[in-house]
This record gives sequence, C-alpha cells and structure tokens, in this order.
Amino acid sequence: MVVLEARELYRFYHSGDEEVKALRGVSVCIEAREMVAFIGPSGSGKSTLLMCLAGLDEPDGGEVIVFGKRMTRREEQFKTALRSRSMGIMLQSNNLFAHLSVTQNVHLAQATLGNADAAWIKSTIEQLGIASRAHALPSELSGGERARAALAVALARKPKILILDEPTGEVDAAAETAILDMLQQHCKQGGAVVVATHNEALAKKASRIMPIKDGKFVNDQ
Ligand SMILES: Nc1ncnc2c1ncn2[C@@H]1O[C@H](COP(=O)(O)OP(=O)(O)OP(=O)(O)O)[C@@H](O)[C@H]1O
Ligand SMILES: [Mg+2]
Repeated sequence: MVVLEARELYRFYHSGDEEVKALRGVSVCIEAREMVAFIGPSGSGKSTLLMCLAGLDEPDGGEVIVFGKRMTRREEQFKTALRSRSMGIMLQSNNLFAHLSVTQNVHLAQATLGNADAAWIKSTIEQLGIASRAHALPSELSGGERARAALAVALARKPKILILDEPTGEVDAAAETAILDMLQQHCKQGGAVVVATHNEALAKKASRIMPIKDGKFVNDQ
C-alpha cells in the first residue's frame, strides 16, 4: 500500500539574482513497511524534499499525495489536519518548545490526540536513552540528546509515516543503535520511514536507498 508519493517535484529558491534549483523533478512512491533513505551531499536537496513531503514547504511544481489525498496547493488547515493525522516529523531545525521539558514536549504532542499515555512516554524516553534528562529543558540538552527528544516528539502521535532529517546526526553509537531499532520496529508494525541521512549504519538498515544529487535522484539522471 502506497502511503506517500511525490510526483515530479520542483522547488526553486531565489536569493537576489541567483536561483537555486533545490529540486528538479523528483518522484518517489513510499509503501507501508518501507524505510526509504535519501542520501547525498550537503546541499543536494534532501531537506527540501522532506519539507515538501511533509507539506511544510510548497513545491513550485508537482505534487505530494498522502494516503491518496493531494497535500500540495491546499489550504493550511487541510495540510495541518492531514499532516497531524498521518505524520511524525523531525527536521534539522528543532521541533521542541524551549520552555517545556523533554517529557512535557512529548506530552504536549500527544495531548491533542486526547489522553496522553504517560507509560508510553516514559518507556519511549527510556528506550532512547534520555531518561535521566527527561525533566531538562531543550537548552540544557546536548545536541545528541536534543535529537533524541525531537525523535520522541515525532513518535508521540504514533504516526503511520515518519519523516526524519538526520535523526542520528549528533548521537553516539549506543543511541544510534537504539534509534535504528525503533525505526525498524516502526516499519515492522506497518509504518513507513522516510529519512535523509549521511549515516551509513542507518542507510544500511533502509529497505531502499535513493541517492540524490543536485536536486534529482541519481537513478533518474
Ligand atoms: N530557504 C532557502 N533559501 C535559499 N536557498 C535555500 C533555502 N533552503 C535551502 N536552500 C538551498 O537549496 C539547496 C538544497 O538545500 P537542502 O537544505 O535541501 O540540502 P540538504 O541535502 O538537506 O543538505 P544537508 O546535507 O547539508 O542538510 C542548497 O543549495 C541550499 O543552499
Ligand atoms: Mg538537510
């Protein structure tokens, strides 16, 4: 079953006279139970693609389909509803509220679903190896701890689709293993993971690796 699809995405950025062609006709179809890894050099368009897939950025051409529904060129409200029903998102820029602790951040992400599940929050934070930092504020965390807290927030709504930008960016080997295990578990339970990464261990666990260069999948070039 296809859960997420990009059809011929284009995204151009303009700064002054310069035009950056961040995406140049990118198409991909992601099925349930798949872990798809976008790998490529810095500036190749990975984050731009994830932002478009999440409906947080609007492509200049093409469209994104989420569970059969078009996400592109829709009202913000429609996109937000579709996104919060189906996606957990962790971007390179942080998704944590500065004035809330790790636990409170995860709790808030869950609360909009109805009841927050305190036992699930505790065990997820433990599995990610940040239980001792559960009551710390984001500003009091190391980069790797902050990344894991952000991942806990992305997982909080138990989403079908996880969209993750460099989830293992700043973590040590033990945390990396914990994260990889969680992502594999997510796929086994029927979810899909879309990840941008430079991390080889993570790419190896992926069911599909899609190299991207200059805003295009290498295999399409
Ligand atoms: N808001 C923006 N305005 C202008 N140019 C941008 C903007 N965001 C990204 N770009 C440019 O678009 C291109 C793709 O950027 P993107 O962030 O998608 O790369 P990336 O593959 O995620 O890189 P990294 O591995 O460093 O995270 C780069 O050339 C970048 O400089
Ligand atoms: Mg990036």
